[in-house]
Amino acid sequence: SVPPPAELLEIAVEVARDAAATAYRMRAEGVSVAATKSTVTDVVTAADRAVERQVLDALAKQRPDDAVLGEEYGAAEAAAAPSGVRWVVDPIDGTVNYLYAIPYCAVSLAAEVDGEVVAGVVRNIFTGEEWTATAGGGAWRDGRRLRCSTETDPGQALVATGFGYDPGRRSHQARVVAELIPHVRDIRRLGAAALDLCLAAEGRVDAYYEKGLAAWDLAAGGLVAAEAGLRVTGLRGRPPGPDLVIAAPPALFQPLHDRLADLDASGGP
Ligand code: IPD
Repeated sequence: SVPPPAELLEIAVEVARDAAATAYRMRAEGVSVAATKSTVTDVVTAADRAVERQVLDALAKQRPDDAVLGEEYGAAEAAAAPSGVRWVVDPIDGTVNYLYAIPYCAVSLAAEVDGEVVAGVVRNIFTGEEWTATAGGGAWRDGRRLRCSTETDPGQALVATGFGYDPGRRSHQARVVAELIPHVRDIRRLGAAALDLCLAAEGRVDAYYEKGLAAWDLAAGGLVAAEAGLRVTGLRGRPPGPDLVIAAPPALFQPLHDRLADLDASGGP
């Protein structure tokens, strides 16, 4: 039988804490680029791989019948799970920040039941800040329930976004930012999508959008944001996905959505 979300979250938190500790230790020992993926700027370090391996092993021990989708190794293990549970892991979201020791990178781990994210944890590797959520159970950081920003004026909104690794895509994304920035308080490109969503969950940025997110970037942080009251969708009523993810408080959603639609934020390569 499928355990309730709270039970899945307990497992996720335990696994994510151990994973973050490993990532922190490996960073202190010194890291370098182990390989590049889609482009030369899309790096992977030995820590990305070691941390994901640790997460896969820990989950296999506790939940042998679950499937896992992971950024570095998980695809092969992502076949249908007899248990109905699938874990989605980004061992280090914000790999470039990790490489440069900028304290804005995280372990992201979520549990899906029948394709719906029901529990998620995002843990900052450097600061130990930890965001959690369960479907219907709210979003939390360190024992405090989170609510998103109550800002209503798009012109006063601090909007976080991110860029993909493909050069053509980034040029398009930069053009969208150039057009958007006169109409908002400011833009932040902080460097880790999962954390951007968690910051939006507590109003430390007002909203967030990005094209090209992978499932592991979105799963846990997306639940945290939604449970804190943000609308998390794609363009024109589509579900959030690789085309575009917009996370905005209800009052800011429509104006931000419409501007991003006008700017063709989901277009380009
Ligand atoms: C990246 C970060 C970045 C976002 C990219 C992601 P990674 O994840 O979340 O902020 O803009 O779209 O790919 O590669 O560091 O795990």
